[in-house]
Amino acid sequence: MLTAYTARIAELLDRHCDVLLVGDSLAQVIYGLPTTLPATLDMMIAHGAAVVRGSRHALVVVDMPFGTYEESPEQAFRSAARVMQETGAGAIKLEGGVAMAPTIAYLTKRGIPVMAHIGLTPQAVNVLGGYAARGQGNAEYSGIMDDATAVDGAGAFSVVIEAVVEPLAQSVTDAIGCPTVGIGASKRCDGQVLVVDDMLGMFERNARFVRRFDNLADRIDAAASAYATAVRSRRFPGAQHLYGRRAGGGS
Ligand code: KIV
Repeated sequence: MLTAYTARIAELLDRHCDVLLVGDSLAQVIYGLPTTLPATLDMMIAHGAAVVRGSRHALVVVDMPFGTYEESPEQAFRSAARVMQETGAGAIKLEGGVAMAPTIAYLTKRGIPVMAHIGLTPQAVNVLGGYAARGQGNAEYSGIMDDATAVDGAGAFSVVIEAVVEPLAQSVTDAIGCPTVGIGASKRCDGQVLVVDDMLGMFERNARFVRRFDNLADRIDAAASAYATAVRSRRFPGAQHLYGRRAGGGS
């Protein structure tokens, strides 16, 4: 699984990925916002629809943004139904464990497949106090275990485990029935996810769990520099890029 936010990137990733996640990380990655909290339902729907248009084979999952599902199962259903109807995505993802289990059960019983997200849940950054890995202490370790069991029991078809100590990710993967997708978790998770811009090397700083599979930022910089030089020196556009006038070309 990788994140995707646009149709063309979805087209490129689609044949390599089983799942494309339209993550609320788009708030930071696409819109340059400081956290994921300002992502709106309209943003998620616009990008979700674009990713669905770009994909053929992968399951497209759209994140529920902060404030659109936590209040009640009914609020979650109204928001998720909009996402499903207006994007054509196959499922939604929401953050939270034990507290969200009744909502997950409510949605799945009403035709909305739910991917859960536990461990480090970025929408809760103001409660968690930062983005540090979770599960060091005994209470937190067993709390995240309880979260995993609760969302699995509530009917989540899969669960993202983000930034937890490795033995915990392994225990969760062994303990629950639905597939786990790790990010900063364990290679023993059933699947892995990364933010696509992180793994392409678009940012200077990354979390520990990111592996850069390319250095796209450097390559974009080099291409933009070559373009600017060619324009300033009038080597671009060349004759092959321009339109001539046909002989005897009418009115
Ligand atoms: O929003 C997102 O991109 C995510 C992934 C990091 C799992 O939730």
